[in-house]
Amino acid sequence: MNQEKVVLITGATGGIGKAAALALAKQQYTVVIHGRNKGRTALAAEEIRIMTGNNKVSYILGDFFLMSDVKKAAESFLSKYKRLDILINNAGGLMNKDRAVTAEGVETTFAVNVLAPFLLSELLLPLLSQSEDGRIINVASNSHRLNAKPDFNDMEGSKKYNPLVAYGNAKLFLIWNTRHLAGLLTTQGLHNVTVNSVHPGAIATNFGVTSNLGGFLNLFVKLLRPFFKTPEQGAQTLTYLATADIHLTGNYFEKNKPVAPAEKYYSKRNEQLLWDYCIQKVKQWM
Ligand SMILES: NC(=O)c1ccc[n+]([C@@H]2O[C@H](COP(=O)([O-])OP(=O)(O)OC[C@H]3O[C@@H](n4cnc5c(N)ncnc54)[C@H](OP(=O)(O)O)[C@@H]3O)[C@@H](O)[C@H]2O)c1
Repeated sequence: MNQEKVVLITGATGGIGKAAALALAKQQYTVVIHGRNKGRTALAAEEIRIMTGNNKVSYILGDFFLMSDVKKAAESFLSKYKRLDILINNAGGLMNKDRAVTAEGVETTFAVNVLAPFLLSELLLPLLSQSEDGRIINVASNSHRLNAKPDFNDMEGSKKYNPLVAYGNAKLFLIWNTRHLAGLLTTQGLHNVTVNSVHPGAIATNFGVTSNLGGFLNLFVKLLRPFFKTPEQGAQTLTYLATADIHLTGNYFEKNKPVAPAEKYYSKRNEQLLWDYCIQKVKQWM
């Protein structure tokens, strides 16, 4: 049965995404990994094929800071595959102490952690909804509890920016968009597609390693690293959500269990505000 299922994992050149790709390739899924660098992505796909003996591992490319590239990646996927069962929106991360904006005018943390999964899910939903058991898994973070402080008049922190707050906000927004999409699919009667988000744990990957957060925070991240878990442990809840016989939707998971996300900034109105904001930002690519 797994042999027929197709899974797409974004940001799978290393870290949690690659560990999840390995775990699913071992179970004989057809695995498509995504990366932004051709050399790194092709190498990761080759390593996964060799390590698992599964030849149904390939890749697509796209710089997910750019929605034009998300669109191209979706088109590339749709031109090559006639089936999609599981979409794991994993690409993301923490940016630098100085706020940066993409060539499309979007703050980088917001672009890769919020808008890219939003747009990719929208573009692939028509194919995913043909699956008997379609699943979208969004990789969020506990940072939404620790660091989020959203300003709904300034979603992308143009007036006041801190990389940790931007990251916490982005993952909070991803959790809300997960819940919102789940609600829309249920309303539309698309009960065959579930959408959930995940905190993978504190994992020793490239996460935060190349981010310049500023003197003290750079040191703090280095000191914490020895206490982090392995990428394989980080991939655990992702692979659980991809493979387990569960049909929950709109939930946030930690250690294979649905848990309540922080609700401090939540209201139905804020959730809708965010959703409408994302639509405005990506509508030219939808
Ligand atoms: N590690 C943790 O403790 C932790 C905790 C909570 C949540 N998370 C989340 O888990 C997910 C995976 O992170 P990780 O820990 O495995 O970190 P990682 O080792 O840095 O992996 C991140 C992946 O995302 C890709 N990526 C980043 N920006 C991209 C862009 N603009 N376009 C395309 N691909 C991009 C990276 O590609 P390149 O190889 O090209 O850089 C890499 O494949 C992220 O969403 C992260 O926020 C991590």
